[in-house]
Parts: sequence; C-alpha cells; structure tokens
Amino acid sequence: MAHLFNRNVVLGVSGGIAAYKSAELVRQLKERGADVRVVMTRGAQEFITPLTLQALSGHPVHTELLDTEAELGMGHIELARWADLLIIAPATADLIARLASGRADDLLTTVALATAAPKLVAPAMNQQMWRDPATSANIDTLQDRGMSLVGPASGEQACGDVGPGRMEQPVNIALAAAGLFANGALAGRRVVITAGPTREALDPVRYLSNHSSGKMGYALAAAAVDAGAQVTLISGPVQLATPEHAERVDVVSAAQMLDACLERVKECDLFIACAAVADYRPATVAAGKIKKDAEHLTLELERTTDILATVSGHAQAPFTVGFAAETHDLEQYARGKLERKKLDMIVANDVSDTAIGFNSDQNAVTVFWQQGSCALAQASKSTIARELIALIAQRMEAPDG
Ligand code: PMT
Repeated sequence: MAHLFNRNVVLGVSGGIAAYKSAELVRQLKERGADVRVVMTRGAQEFITPLTLQALSGHPVHTELLDTEAELGMGHIELARWADLLIIAPATADLIARLASGRADDLLTTVALATAAPKLVAPAMNQQMWRDPATSANIDTLQDRGMSLVGPASGEQACGDVGPGRMEQPVNIALAAAGLFANGALAGRRVVITAGPTREALDPVRYLSNHSSGKMGYALAAAAVDAGAQVTLISGPVQLATPEHAERVDVVSAAQMLDACLERVKECDLFIACAAVADYRPATVAAGKIKKDAEHLTLELERTTDILATVSGHAQAPFTVGFAAETHDLEQYARGKLERKKLDMIVANDVSDTAIGFNSDQNAVTVFWQQGSCALAQASKSTIARELIALIAQRMEAPDG
C-alpha cells in the first residue's frame, strides 16, 4: 500500500456536497500512516459536522481564523508549519478562485498561503462550472504555481447533470497524496541510516544516554524509502514505529551500533549517521547494582569508537553523511568534523534551541560539503528529511561528489 507514514496532513474541506466524502478521505489517509488535522470552511460545516471529522481524525477541527482559543491551541501559522502536505478536498469553484487570487479571507485560504508544504487540490463542482473559462484559468494558475490536481472525475452529478466535476474517490486522492512524496532520486541505492540514542551501561540497572528520540533518523528512513532506496535503519532504543519498507536493526550500545554498521558497510551506497552516539562509556560495567554508600562517586569513562569515522575510513566507504549537534559556532565545528571524519557531507543542527533538534518535531539545519553549503529553514522533521534526501541524492550525482 502506498504510504504516508509519519506525514502531517492538513485536510481542507470546503462547502460542496462532496464534503461528506471527506470523512472517508480522513480514514484513508490515517490508514496509510498520516496524522491528519482538518480545516473546514463555514460552507463545509453545512454539509458535514466538525464533530464527525474530529472523531475520525482524533484532533479538534479548525474552523475559525480569528478565534483566540483556537489560536492558543494550534494557531494558523503553526498549522501551516506543521503540515507536510495540504490537501483541499473538496475544492469548490469559489475556493479555487480564492486560492488563485491569493486571498486570505478565512482559515483555509490563510493556511494555504502560509504553508510551504506541497498542495493537492481535488476540485468538485457542477460540470458547467468546471467547464467555465474562469474556472479553467484559475486551475491553470494553481498548477503554474506548483499545486497538484487530482480529478475531477466524470459521471452523474448530485444536481442531475452528467459530466466532469465529481470529486475524485477518496482512495484515489490518498494514493495521489502518497505519490507526491515518492520519487526516484535514490532508486536502486542501498542506504544505511543510524538513529536514536545509545545506552552505555553503568551497572545492570543504570546507563548513560541522551535525549535523542530517533524522530530525525526515522523521518530520513521514510524519505529514503520514498526516494526508491533499499533502507536499513540501525536504531538505538526509541518509541517509534518502523517506517514501512525499511529494515530495522535494533541495538543498544555504541559498540553494538558499530558492529551492525560494519556488517553492512560493504553493501551500502549511502551511510547517514543521524544517531546521537555516546562519545564515552563507563570503563567498567559493575556486575551488581552500584550501592549508594559513598558520598561521592567517580566514574571512569573511556572513548567509544567513532562509527562515522570508521565507516568513512573503510576501504569500500559509501557516500558518507554525518550530523553535527552543536550549541554554538555551528559552521566552524561542522566543517571541522567534515574534514576530520573525511565526510562527503555534514548536516549541522543547533541543539541549543529546544524548538528544534533533540526530541522536537521540527528541525532547521545547514548542510556543508567541501565546495558549498545549503540552509534548510525550520520545518517538520519529515519535510527536512525529504529536502535532505533530495540534496544528498543531488550531491551523489555531482561530478565533484
Ligand atoms: O533523534 P531526534 O530527537 O530526532 O534528534 C535528532 C538529533 C539532534 C539527534 C540529530 O539531528 C543529530 O544531530 N544527530 C547527531 C548527534 C551527535 O551525536 O552529534 P555529534 O556532533 O556528537 O556527532 C557527530 C557525528 O558523529 C554524528 O553523525 C554522530 O552520529 C557520529 N558519531 C558520534 C560519536 C560516535 N562514537 N560515533 C559516531 O558515529
């Protein structure tokens, strides 16, 4: 099944008879792994109640642009940033006209203007309205601006007319949505991605670790699958579902992660080290639980092996991409790691900002390579992952590597 694993989808519903089909569309999107938030126009609420879509999506439905209470929950800008995809289904002739003229006179058109996410529009209207030159011109404008269209289908209409203008079936809209994320940028490539934290045992019940949730690495795995790669995800302990079509290898410690990576290095074209691997581990692991008799306890730590540097130094090294978690002097430290660890690219993120980096749903990164750099603005980790995979695929094809 074409998937939308980990995708944040805003579904905009406008006021046409096809609005009742949006209930089935929410179900189809969720079944494919999407997290769905619904925005309804006033007209849409005449055809289907927000309560129905709230129950199906599992989130309150957004209806008002100027509502202080709603803005306190998830405001329109937050909603626009949260989205990996905006679907408008049904999109009435009036809504299409308002989108084409760039209006922001209700919540849905405002979110459409404020989001950088791709947009998928499913028109639904009377066949004569669809054929009208004004609608045709508006549709051309939306497509020229990069919006995708699904449907309309032809057939008998609610008003008794026969012709084009029926909203496409929900299953086909969900398939078109999943298709927007699929691309062949890494077709046939074998990709190994590390994700999550490692745990370094102190005794049988305690360990040293960090706050990595695995979200960034898992989003990268999903994006690499979408790009056509064969993906192995080597994961520290996290609470996340495995992206569909990715092979997952669970490890706990840095030493186990190293072994799992080395086993696969020869059969891999691209290695992405997103895991927050412990730099140090206890020099000895106590056989029994350490007792709290002493007032002070000194731990002796020893360096772990640098997995990334080991992979990049391998005789058959793949294209190697590291991450750099920094709190200051981002470029200087990231470029230092790029050189020292002999990497093809490094992705630097500022982990001093709690809105991005460790355990947040968003990230903002700057990617460095020998001859250049590229900043990716704050967005969901899934959007950043897609952008990163596209950039990495491009650099892999570049003549200078
Ligand atoms: O998991 P999330 O909550 O989504 O958070 C994402 C993240 C912040 C963990 C991720 O974006 C990130 O920055 N990962 C790298 C964290 C890190 O350990 O950075 P570092 O600068 O200490 O290490 C540099 C690189 O060396 C990293 O690619 C790291 O995986 C690698 N490394 C480090 C030590 C070691 N022993 N072996 C390694 O391979």
